[in-house]
Amino acid sequence: MRILGIESSCDETAAAVVENGERLLSNVVNSQIDIHAEYGGVIPEIAARSHLEVINPVINKALADANCTWDDIDAIAVTYAPGLIGSLLIGTLAARTLAIIHNKPLYKIHHVEAHVYANFITEQNQPTFPLLALIISGGHSQLVLFQNHGDYQLIGQTQDDAVGEAFDKVAKILGLPYPGGPSISKAAKFGDPHAFTLPIAKLQGKYDFSFSGLKTAVLRAVQREVGKDFTFPSHELPGLVDDELRHNMAASFQFTAIKTLVDKTRQAYDDFQPASVVIAGGVAANQELRHQLSAALPLSIDYAPIQLCTDNAAMIAALGYYRAQIDQPTDPYDLEVQPSLSMTSV
Ligand code: KG4
Ligand code: ZN
Repeated sequence: MRILGIESSCDETAAAVVENGERLLSNVVNSQIDIHAEYGGVIPEIAARSHLEVINPVINKALADANCTWDDIDAIAVTYAPGLIGSLLIGTLAARTLAIIHNKPLYKIHHVEAHVYANFITEQNQPTFPLLALIISGGHSQLVLFQNHGDYQLIGQTQDDAVGEAFDKVAKILGLPYPGGPSISKAAKFGDPHAFTLPIAKLQGKYDFSFSGLKTAVLRAVQREVGKDFTFPSHELPGLVDDELRHNMAASFQFTAIKTLVDKTRQAYDDFQPASVVIAGGVAANQELRHQLSAALPLSIDYAPIQLCTDNAAMIAALGYYRAQIDQPTDPYDLEVQPSLSMTSV
């Protein structure tokens, strides 16, 4: 079964063709990072306009790269939740129109659940159930236990900021470019992870996270290091931060954020004894996290390629394949976007 996946929930316009949920035939991602980098974050109106400009060429390229015509496509899968409303609308309207014109079944896909399916796009060593997934992106930080496809339980989540959001905000404080994840991990290579002792939040929920205090602790430490008090505006800090402070703070922040993620995942592993562990979402691209997690767990982890960790449509098509086994297709005349739907209520 060949599925065309379409993704437009944030600042990547993407389309991909995946066979049987495991074989990648094409994967086209048009990133708007350069456009939004100028503003230090995603501007929703600009994102929606940019999706509109490129969605048709991106879909056509995904079909061409896969050597497919519409006759070769069995179904369409599209992200309908969660994300920026204007961005989600462009992808879902394209998918609905194409499903009607070409008479293909349409499956609605939850973006966060789909991140996990990047790990299934492999013809060898697919993850097995029960599966513990650490989902860490710009919008989410959660631990989810899957008993099977479509059968899962949210066991922990962030109480405030997502970890990717913390990377992005700390990068801004340090004057590192957007997106913060890759630029912090690059800067961290030159710094000492023990230069600053940063706090790890203590929470009631055993598997819950909190990253807002960590971000504030970085802000206060940087203000102190440059000789200012807590009233000094954060947007003026980058001009006062030198390379040594930038590198040491990036390394110390990354060390603390990763330690939090690894400790909670280890705790959940010990309690639930899953058959596999996967990490998913943009922050799963972090190499240091991969090293630390592998060192902390007694089972081996097959990490997904980096380009399948950040937003893409291959993961949407892969989950579409499994959803097609358990769900009825969606009516293309009816599909509405759900910008704030969490994974618990799918
Ligand atoms: O999954 P994703 O592409 O989009 C969302 O669904 O949010 O994740 C984007 C997030 C951003 O916050 C970005 O800074 C972070 O993933 N990220 C990383 C790395 N690459 C991307 N964080 C840490 N280390 C990385 N190498
Ligand atoms: Zn994502």
